[in-house]
Amino acid sequence: MEIIHSPSQMTAWANQALGAGKTIALTPTMGAFHEGHLSLMRMARHQADLTVTSIFVNPIQFGPEEDFDQYPKSLAKDAAMAEKEGVEILFAPTVADMYPEGFQTLITVKGITDRLCGLSRPGHFDGVTTVVAKLFNIVKPTVAIFGRKDFQQLAILRKMVCDLNWDIEIIGHPIVREEDGLAMSSRNTYLSVTERQAALTLVKSIKHVRQRFREGETNAEQLRCEAAKILSDNDKVTIDYLSLVDQRTLNDQTVINHDSVFLVAAKVGTTRLIDNTVLFDEN
Ligand code: PAJ
Repeated sequence: MEIIHSPSQMTAWANQALGAGKTIALTPTMGAFHEGHLSLMRMARHQADLTVTSIFVNPIQFGPEEDFDQYPKSLAKDAAMAEKEGVEILFAPTVADMYPEGFQTLITVKGITDRLCGLSRPGHFDGVTTVVAKLFNIVKPTVAIFGRKDFQQLAILRKMVCDLNWDIEIIGHPIVREEDGLAMSSRNTYLSVTERQAALTLVKSIKHVRQRFREGETNAEQLRCEAAKILSDNDKVTIDYLSLVDQRTLNDQTVINHDSVFLVAAKVGTTRLIDNTVLFDEN
């Protein structure tokens, strides 16, 4: 595996690969790898001839009160893990490489960014779409893989690619969970032992909604109330949102169906966690 820091070198590598008739799969990340990231890389290997993983803790997607400075960084350890997964290139640019002085452009997807995480993290998705657009232009992937853990992010990126006529296939990877069900996240490392336990209320709320839907309950407000009760039973948990929305439009639903997704965001202590489940799904 080769580590490339410079965007122009990355593009030169991509041009050569594409010129030789190869396809490229990209998995964009912010590093601090866990099994969720690694399974995205594994999927990437089946989607193209060559795989690129990017690591970039993107400052413009963090709010002023958020954890940009604290975000775990472990390039050497991450590189060893990516190499084991057979990644060809680890692209790890610096902030100055990505946002040189005078940088002035933002990509905004309207509509679906104004709800769910968009409400409590203003500007976050503009930061995500802008950096992913830059990564697409630098790495020139044929296909890009994102996790369904960040369900709204995935929907927004699909919209961006469609609206901007990008010839890139976007694949959503299922959520990878710990043995007890907690969705893997680089931010789980912030949790104390009791907070880690409290975080399981998110999983409990998801399992409850799935079960009640299976039993025939389709009233979204009723299900939201029941899920809220599960989360608010633990005093370490502060709910940000509980929503039942159409999985394509992300519009709120009053009556849910097999196209619905249940999304939850909550603070456990000071750590913000998200999780979701698509109701028709097997897992
Ligand atoms: P990051 O949080 O590092 O996540 C990188 C990718 O891994 C995202 O597509 C995310 O959805 C996926 N992922 C994280 N945890 C997962 C899990 N438990 N199961 C499945 N997939 C999981 O998301 C970002 O970085 C950034 O916003 C980024 C897209 C890189 C733009 O900066």
